[in-house]
Amino acid sequence: MTSASVTSRPGDLLALALEVAREAAELVREARAGTVEVADTKSSDVDVVTETDRASEALIRERILAARPDDSFLGEEGGRSIDGSSGIRWIVDPIDGTVNFLYGIPHYAVSIAAERADDLGGGEMIVGVVIDVASGTEYAATAGGGATRDGRPIGVRAEAPLAERLVLTGFSYSAEVRGVQAAAVARMLPKVRDIRRLGSCALDLCRVAEGGADAYVEEGVQVWDHAAAALVAREAGARVELTKGATGRDVVIAAPSSGFAAFRTLAVASGFLG
Ligand code: IPD
Ligand code: CA
Ligand code: CA
Repeated sequence: MTSASVTSRPGDLLALALEVAREAAELVREARAGTVEVADTKSSDVDVVTETDRASEALIRERILAARPDDSFLGEEGGRSIDGSSGIRWIVDPIDGTVNFLYGIPHYAVSIAAERADDLGGGEMIVGVVIDVASGTEYAATAGGGATRDGRPIGVRAEAPLAERLVLTGFSYSAEVRGVQAAAVARMLPKVRDIRRLGSCALDLCRVAEGGADAYVEEGVQVWDHAAAALVAREAGARVELTKGATGRDVVIAAPSSGFAAFRTLAVASGFLG
């Protein structure tokens, strides 16, 4: 395909994202059937990477840039961004939930988002695809086009009193941040129905999107963790805020729009935010 024939219509980008994410999910699924070992560590000794994280990202990068050579690409395992000229940037987590993948806990995902550059040097997420590898469930969204699970529209839960909300969270790979997160969880736990740590930021946000939890809050997440799934959650009726957390790192707070403010206030009072 020549670059002249490449369009940036969300529907076309979504079709490509889905096709490539399915291929990557298949690669990850097959790799899990064999032996999985740690290939390296990153930000700390518990922040691991496997050969499959790298192979999944290489496949996604190769397929996307072969179809759209003028786009930019940011993948977790690639380190730096590849800069293109089309105004479209792909943001990819080749396995979100690597620790689950390593231990064979069937809860990890391939996440692919497409962002369109704006005139102010920022960008708007216009396409998001998250595939739950073990179950094969596909979450997808386009900006303004709604969110789906396996092709069917999804929506968030109705607002519930705080004491009846099921909250999802996650823990950073940094021991310092974990200390702060543990204290915040201890303060929030008596005030809500319960708290779960499932191990994939992308699937946590998709769970809020489909009404499978009432809220999500986590400090220390990176753009590839939430780029695709935050769009899915927003399009399903959640409000998703990206701000600074108690230790100065990025924090994501997500909840159904109705009732978001009450959850945010609780997250601040619990110490998730500075
Ligand atoms: C991690 C997962 C986890 C979250 C961490 C992320 P990775 O991503 O999303 O749930 O708590 O903050 O880094 O390392 O498995 O791609
Ligand atoms: Ca991740
Ligand atoms: Ca990852």
